Amino acid sequence: MQNTNKKEWGKLARHCAKEAGKLITRMLEQPLEVMCKTSASDLVTSVDRAVEKLVMDTILEAYPDHGILGEEGLFAEDISRFDTVWVVDPIDGTTNFVHQQQNYCISIAVCHQGRCEAAVVYDPTREELFYAEREAGAFLNDVPLAAHRTMTMEQALLSSSIFWNSRAMESGLSEKVQQLARASRGMRVYGVAALELAYVAAGRLDAYISMSLNPWDYAGGKLLIEESGARVTRLNGEPIPFGEKSSILAANPAIYDSLLDFLKPD
Ligand code: IPD
Ligand code: CA
Ligand code: CA
Repeated sequence: MQNTNKKEWGKLARHCAKEAGKLITRMLEQPLEVMCKTSASDLVTSVDRAVEKLVMDTILEAYPDHGILGEEGLFAEDISRFDTVWVVDPIDGTTNFVHQQQNYCISIAVCHQGRCEAAVVYDPTREELFYAEREAGAFLNDVPLAAHRTMTMEQALLSSSIFWNSRAMESGLSEKVQQLARASRGMRVYGVAALELAYVAAGRLDAYISMSLNPWDYAGGKLLIEESGARVTRLNGEPIPFGEKSSILAANPAIYDSLLDFLKPD
């Protein structure tokens, strides 16, 4: 794969994210059409689908031989046939979007042969565009991000979404994360995985802990974390498999090892 490819893919990903932001702003001028998927807490809106369609059409016009793994599943083909796959969450944080019209984002990652090469996480309400390109760094609105800093757990601000996860409650993980809330400066629950990962890359959060995320939730944020110099693995320390559901431990390198050790099953 040539360097020029990832630059061009990254440029198109940024364009898609910005256009998606404009579409969302326009659609918010009308009442939202909200539907439940599997339960009353699993929402989708007409905006999620319109954004995925816009992003998909824009990608396929430029790259008809690429595949798309999008949360709303508008690209119906089997993505294992494609060398280059765009992993798209048209709106991450849909519940926030429906209730607050803020604290949501668009996440797009461009992956080639199972490795993400460029990624965008865009928060249109704050006009914050997080961008990463493999081996070229991570940026917030073109300002380079570096997660390296000296800190202790006492000084750390953490974030998680595991408290209501039944497996986390049964395994004791939920209790451990509550203990971490007491051992650190505090715990936040934002409900927008891609943005929380971007915030770890930016040093606004020092760790993010989650179970059972889908590839579209974490793909963009994962590359941002790696390129900022922070760490991201499964909760057991293993690498995150491409295109599969995964737990996530994303952290500032200063506290990653102690979090990994603390969270491992007794
Ligand atoms: C959700 C958010 C949330 C996470 C859930 C995801 P959605 O994505 O990222 O933070 O805890 O697991 O499903 O449905 O808003 O795109
Ligand atoms: Ca999501
Ligand atoms: Ca979504």
